[in-house]
Amino acid sequence: MQTTVDEIGTDIYRLSTYIPDITEHGFTFNQFLLTGDEPFLFHCGHRQLFPLVSEAVNRVVPVEKLRWLSFGHLEADECGAVNLFLGAAPHAEVIHSGLACMLSLTDLCDRPPIVAPEDGVHDVGGHRLRFIATPHVPHNWEAGLWFDETTSTLLAGDLFSHVGTCPALTETDVVAPALEAEEFFHATGLTSNLQPTLYWLAELQPTTLAVMHGASYSGDGGAQLRALADGYAAMAEAQRERAALVATMSEIGPDSPTLCEGWTTRDLAAHLVVRERRLDAAPGIAIPLLAGYTDKVQRRTAASTDWDELVDKISSGPPLLSPFKLFDAVANMDEMFIHHEDVRRAQTGWEPRSLDPDTIAALRRPVGMMARLTMGKVPARVTLMTPNGETVATVGSGPELIVTGDIGELTLFVAGRDEARLTFSDAQAAQAVRAARRGL
Ligand SMILES: [Fe+2]
Ligand SMILES: [Fe+2]
Repeated sequence: MQTTVDEIGTDIYRLSTYIPDITEHGFTFNQFLLTGDEPFLFHCGHRQLFPLVSEAVNRVVPVEKLRWLSFGHLEADECGAVNLFLGAAPHAEVIHSGLACMLSLTDLCDRPPIVAPEDGVHDVGGHRLRFIATPHVPHNWEAGLWFDETTSTLLAGDLFSHVGTCPALTETDVVAPALEAEEFFHATGLTSNLQPTLYWLAELQPTTLAVMHGASYSGDGGAQLRALADGYAAMAEAQRERAALVATMSEIGPDSPTLCEGWTTRDLAAHLVVRERRLDAAPGIAIPLLAGYTDKVQRRTAASTDWDELVDKISSGPPLLSPFKLFDAVANMDEMFIHHEDVRRAQTGWEPRSLDPDTIAALRRPVGMMARLTMGKVPARVTLMTPNGETVATVGSGPELIVTGDIGELTLFVAGRDEARLTFSDAQAAQAVRAARRGL
């Protein structure tokens, strides 16, 4: 094990220790050292990594010259070595929010911590730093970050955490790897203040995101923060829809019909379990050549698993450390919504659910992409439209057909379902399109 040092911005050094045993791809723990008149270290690292990290600090500035110690929140990787650093650097002081000092740091730190100026700048001579409280984002009540106004760098802590070996600094997207990692870490509190906090951080327009686990990012940091917020929103919606599907399935029982031809609710439940838990069989859901094997695994799962156990498995989602990457949060939302309606709308007398704005927004995003996938070759120029006249997508070629309905109904239509409340501008074209559409 070793700690590498890279200068990722003017007088900003990334100290990075790669630990191969955490996840199957390994995981990095990074500290950021801002040099200047009063050297400032963000994250102290694990207590057990102190020999490596302090030696890495020494390669940039003598460790006893450290003046400020800070970190995102209280966890071993963020601050396990804080007292060892206080011991090694006689003039160093811990600086954090008043809340963090009151809750923990006054008690835990070997020297009294300093409260960061609430609305002001903490000037360390070379970097004008601003403390930003981000309670519960990505986790912990006392969570907070720093923004370096001098270099437009956001010390982003656990935001954008991703696995694997990586360059010190990248210009390629870090949102997708972060959402992928979230799928199995579940480290971020999907709370109602997550999205607003990330949007607010985006307004700082950072050009560098100093990421604690993974590569740091150089480019439009604001766009990355907004995309991360949207990804988390979709993930939270998918979780809610999963819970709603489980409730409906529990109520209806294992032997009801569904809109998936030939499948009972038990078969549909087995499909969802295989998709998330049998990674050997899951590719057959999307790749026709492998479908025979998938079918077999699914039938066996349906026959051999107790109904309550199937429903429990859907409820708990993909196993914690499964390398579940086939479907991102967006695809998951659609999968849960469509199959939920497959169960509901196979019942006589079904009515559309009234969807809240967050659900509608989460369903709205993928409709266009899904329409191109399933209806790219239909024999009409199809425009999907909401009742208030918003065009959602236009696909196919031929005579014009306008399909009007709410987002949930349009989602079901492009997924190949006929049980949807829609109006069609041309009955004949509608029939031709229905026949040519591919299901999902
Ligand atoms: Fe953390
Ligand atoms: Fe961390």
